[in-house]
Amino acid sequence: MSRFEPILLRNLGVPNATDLTVYRSRGGYQAFEKTLRMTPDEVVQEVRAADLRGRGGAGFPAGVKWGFLPKDRTITYLCVNADESEPPTFSNRVLIETDPHQLLEGILIAGFATRATAAYIYMRNEFAEQFHILQHALDQAYAAGLFGHHIQGSGWSMECYIHRGAGAYICGEETGLIESIEGKRGWPRIKPPFPAVAGLFGKPTVVNNVETLCCLPHIMQRGASWFTGIGPKGSSGPKLFCISGPVNRPGCYEATMDITVRDLIYHRDFGQGMQNEKFVKGVYPGGLSMGVLTGEELDMRMDFDDPQRYGLLGLGTAAAVVIDEDTDVRQVLLNVARFFAKESCGQCTQCREGTGWMYKIAQRIADGAGRLQDLDILSEVTQSMGMMPGLSICGLSDGAAYAIRTLVEKFRREFEQHIRNQKPGNVERALNVVN
Ligand SMILES: Cc1cc2nc3c(=O)[nH]c(=O)nc-3n(C[C@H](O)[C@H](O)[C@H](O)COP(=O)(O)O)c2cc1C
Ligand code: SF4
Repeated sequence: MSRFEPILLRNLGVPNATDLTVYRSRGGYQAFEKTLRMTPDEVVQEVRAADLRGRGGAGFPAGVKWGFLPKDRTITYLCVNADESEPPTFSNRVLIETDPHQLLEGILIAGFATRATAAYIYMRNEFAEQFHILQHALDQAYAAGLFGHHIQGSGWSMECYIHRGAGAYICGEETGLIESIEGKRGWPRIKPPFPAVAGLFGKPTVVNNVETLCCLPHIMQRGASWFTGIGPKGSSGPKLFCISGPVNRPGCYEATMDITVRDLIYHRDFGQGMQNEKFVKGVYPGGLSMGVLTGEELDMRMDFDDPQRYGLLGLGTAAAVVIDEDTDVRQVLLNVARFFAKESCGQCTQCREGTGWMYKIAQRIADGAGRLQDLDILSEVTQSMGMMPGLSICGLSDGAAYAIRTLVEKFRREFEQHIRNQKPGNVERALNVVN
């Protein structure tokens, strides 16, 4: 693990850091001023050279995504994804409440690079306090001529609005988010067309995560090569990691992406070990959707590539939830299955029925009425859902599949033990085979 000077969280703990004057006194908005002296294409090139990979979950390079916008467009929208509904993720919240102007500066840089005419910050409903903090910062930025018409005499104009969601996981999916901003039910759209071509109100649109945008002022201020010099190749730049569950110091920490899951749990700068020195039974290291690691797999690096070596979907939101030796895997399964069944929007049959079916099975297993064949059924259901096999409109069902399949397969022995130790007759009663 490399030594690291905080970048994204550098203003954490600074008195009144949410205030424009304080932000400016610490070098804030200088990167944007520098950006305004460049052409939009030069800014896109700089972000491409920095190899800034999206922090919202998929890790797609931001500069490459911006390059998909049609050259002849007249209107462009920027959507800022502050929905942050992936359990147990809260790094966007920390960024917004500790340093809202850093995000606004990132929005200005992305807006300028993409020639956006309006930016919409889509914020999850539960972020009530954070909404007021961000709105206050936005009002200050408007009053200083940083948003609106003819920004800083540049001839470029961009409005910025904060749109509060009603509280649904699926509205974090970029096209569900777009539908929701348009005032419709938050259902993901069939792609293509992709948002870069026909997004918000049918116009070319870029959707970026809060943390991705917060990296931009630092890239523009210190240069792409400085950014690529931080952390491992292909996973460069500063990164926020969340850790929750029964560790001594749960929280949100900044590190380079050569950090391992073990570092995150045990290092004195991060989780500081397990409460009561319990053993780690398992960890969901990247939000639930990426899948689970066993306690023997803690050497996984939290970068964009290593998670796949452990059978996971990816780095995801880099938010780890730790499961200790006392936790019953049946309860973990129940929690995970309930989450996805409740959050599926229901458009795709395999996701709607599959998540519902898995939840019912999980419920029976948790009630002590599971069958060994249920474990095979769970695995099979997860193999026949998701975007990757080409069966669904969005990635929610891939997330459900990875979260459940990895748990059932990696902890199969423990599930089997519980099932074998059940009271006789439970299964028959649960399935109504006998009275
Ligand atoms: C079910 C689902 C939920 C998602 N939730 C979020 C979210 O809360 N925040 C987020 O930034 N991205 C979320 N995403 C990913 C977005 O669709 C999109 O990839 C991301 O906002 C792009 O930003 P980035 O390229 O800066 O990472 C979600 C995806 C899916 C499939
Ligand atoms: S995969 Fe699930 S959540 Fe996504 S669009 Fe289909 S039904 Fe809705």
